[in-house]
Amino acid sequence: MSDTNALKRQVARAALNWVEPGSVIGVGTGSTVDCFIDALKESGIRLAGAVSSSERTAKGLQAIGVPVLDLNDVIRLGVYVDGADEVDPQHCMIKGGGGALTREKIVAEVADRFVCIADGSKAVSCLGHFPLPIEVLPMARSLIERKCRDIGGVPLLRSGFVTDNGNLILDVRGLQIADPVALEREINQWPGVVTNGIFAIRRADVVCLATPSGIRTFDSGQMVQL
Ligand code: A5P
Repeated sequence: MSDTNALKRQVARAALNWVEPGSVIGVGTGSTVDCFIDALKESGIRLAGAVSSSERTAKGLQAIGVPVLDLNDVIRLGVYVDGADEVDPQHCMIKGGGGALTREKIVAEVADRFVCIADGSKAVSCLGHFPLPIEVLPMARSLIERKCRDIGGVPLLRSGFVTDNGNLILDVRGLQIADPVALEREINQWPGVVTNGIFAIRRADVVCLATPSGIRTFDSGQMVQL
């Protein structure tokens, strides 16, 4: 197993601290979340159910016997556990490397506490090195590509990829995201954008990072610094 995989497994196990037995939780998407699903299984913790942010995660949860619930039937989630592609000192994130950003943002919005789990390489001082994913309606693709160029970005259509919602993803390089809240709002107002992968308006409450020297946890109000 690579070092990074070992770190993902460690941080996934650490996330169990925020999981209340018998509760309904929200579950994100990605390789770190896959480790979290494995950790849930190994822990023997029984959940009333989970709301999933993707078809991939729903399959993983069902495979370990967790009932997958429709978000429309759930009013409140105590916790939402998900990975990130980048996380900045203020707990803002870029997400969507796995293409599940829209459902992730929806499920996260319902949760009291967003616990971001990642290996320490995801901590950055400024978001934007990782290409920003934007989910777009197919007919708006070239319009949104032009708008990305207008703000200094270089968009690339994610080849051969269709989201769980039947849309496209543009991965946008070259953005130095100094004001994540402002850019998240701006891009989300472009007609044809379903959502973008900046998670700053609803950012992580807890950031839990696995480093070679152990797990580092940053609660709300604590700057993420490694
Ligand atoms: C999925 O769409 C993403 O938001 C993931 O949460 C993010 O890409 C992190 O993925 P890994 O855990 O695979 O790094």
